Amino acid sequence: MSAEKETACDHAACLTRRDALLAGGGGIIAGMVAPIGAASAQRASEGVAYPRKRVVRIGELHDGVPLAFTYPLQAQPNFIVKLGAPAQGGVGPDHDIVAFSSLCTHMGGNLRGRYRHDLKAVGPCPFHFSTFDLTRGGVAVHASATQSLPQVVLEIAGDDVFAVRVAGLIYGYRHNLKDGSLAEGAKTPTMRG
Ligand code: FES
Repeated sequence: MSAEKETACDHAACLTRRDALLAGGGGIIAGMVAPIGAASAQRASEGVAYPRKRVVRIGELHDGVPLAFTYPLQAQPNFIVKLGAPAQGGVGPDHDIVAFSSLCTHMGGNLRGRYRHDLKAVGPCPFHFSTFDLTRGGVAVHASATQSLPQVVLEIAGDDVFAVRVAGLIYGYRHNLKDGSLAEGAKTPTMRG
């Protein structure tokens, strides 16, 4: 297996109700930022050939247990998780397997270990408390972030889950495929075989 287990969120500031995130001010933020995230995703993916990487076998995923992996470059951390509920961009028999960058879009806070299965969300970010809804393409629903969390586009082949693209610009990069080496196991289209 090329992905590794993450720890559950234990931050004292973890939110307690999904509804609290998706209502009120958070909902307003989500409405404002979705178009920005979509535009970034389009710009980041235009005219580039992403590598393909086998991330995990479907049978190795368990509801609510995120696994970490790097893609498309070595220094770009992500997580994959089976939400247990259908999600935008979700793959697998239940359309509930999704993957996202672990770097907060506000100022790059590390979101590893911040997944909340009760909310189907990741956050709060350790820096400024941003939280992202994983059922809705990683849209920011709370606090400082103004862009959606980049979503790793997944494909299924047999029992394997592959990463094939990233929708959205990863924090700290001018281009998702520049300024670094490909992640272990990632193969460009010409390297397949
Ligand atoms: S870096 Fe995540 S909220 Fe600021």
